[in-house]
Amino acid sequence: MNVGLKTQIIPAGKAAVAAAARALAEGGLVAFPTETVYGLGADATNAAAIARLYQAKGRPAFNPLIAHIGDRAAARRIARFDAQATALAEAFWPGPLTLVLPKTQNCPVADLATAGLDTVAIRIPAHPLAREILRAFGGAVVAPSANLSGHVSPTTAAHVQGDLSGRIDLIVDGGAVAVGVESTIVGCFDEPMLLRPGGLPRAEIERVLGRALKQPPSDAESDNGRPLAPGMLASHYAPRAKVRLQASSIAPGEALLAFGLGAISGIDGASMVMNLSERGDLDEAAANLFGHLRALDSKGAHTIAVMPIPDEGLGEAINDRLRRAAVGRE
Ligand code: TXA
Ligand code: MG
Repeated sequence: MNVGLKTQIIPAGKAAVAAAARALAEGGLVAFPTETVYGLGADATNAAAIARLYQAKGRPAFNPLIAHIGDRAAARRIARFDAQATALAEAFWPGPLTLVLPKTQNCPVADLATAGLDTVAIRIPAHPLAREILRAFGGAVVAPSANLSGHVSPTTAAHVQGDLSGRIDLIVDGGAVAVGVESTIVGCFDEPMLLRPGGLPRAEIERVLGRALKQPPSDAESDNGRPLAPGMLASHYAPRAKVRLQASSIAPGEALLAFGLGAISGIDGASMVMNLSERGDLDEAAANLFGHLRALDSKGAHTIAVMPIPDEGLGEAINDRLRRAAVGRE
């Protein structure tokens, strides 16, 4: 177990980029900000580094990783693009979209990172610091969210530190991220499929494709029994507290996670109140979601009652993460 490492924290800047690139080249584990959430990076070609990454997160190795690359030429060395995948990459990269594509014959990404699948998940992140690190390192970097497996994803360097200090080599602190929920994942199969709602709204993708995205089967298994989205375990984004959804009133002592300024009965008896977005803005709510869940949790909330959130735009990703947070705890 790689507990007991001395985890360095370096603020964004030239020195941080150089240290990150060096650590990745040496097989180290480096947390860095992307526009969606903080990622925990390792050299995508280095199986030993990837094994340490799974261990540091406590993540089951059957759950494959996203390869982050700097440009589309690098993407084409890793995966095969059909016309639809090309259209999506051109429209949305760099940005919060991950494409699941067939691997190339000489795909450099280690088999351990793709969990033995013949597909690979890739994206070009938009965060300037992530892009500089990828450029300085010069290769693909696999990066899951930089949290312990099962926890909510980190949106600040302090969240990463709370989960992974002593288990990884370096944290590059680039401040709070902009989007706040993970990338949208589209499986580029015969019919493109929404494997995970995320930071890029479904409607924008469907506009470019000129068709609706397919929904994965509810058991998330394809006909040959292979998982389509292996990481979409029901209970995944789990705070310690119980999470109660679609709350229309607050029971005494419950914590309230509010959205907008609508009235809700029982609010005077709430143990604490945090608002995802007072002005009812779904982008702002996404940026606040994981930070607010962590804050309510660390202040000892036993139940978090969540007001209804519209299922449009980033609301689809917010509601997906909240449903997972609530599983087994209602
Ligand atoms: O925004 C994000 O996507 C962040 C930042 C760091 O880029 N990363 C992230 O990674 O959320 P992670 O590991 O927490 O989630 C990746 C998801 C998992 O659900 C995994 O099962 C799925 O992508 N995935 C990876 N490769 C896949 C593949 N070949 N087929 C289907 N799903 C795949
Ligand atoms: Mg994750």
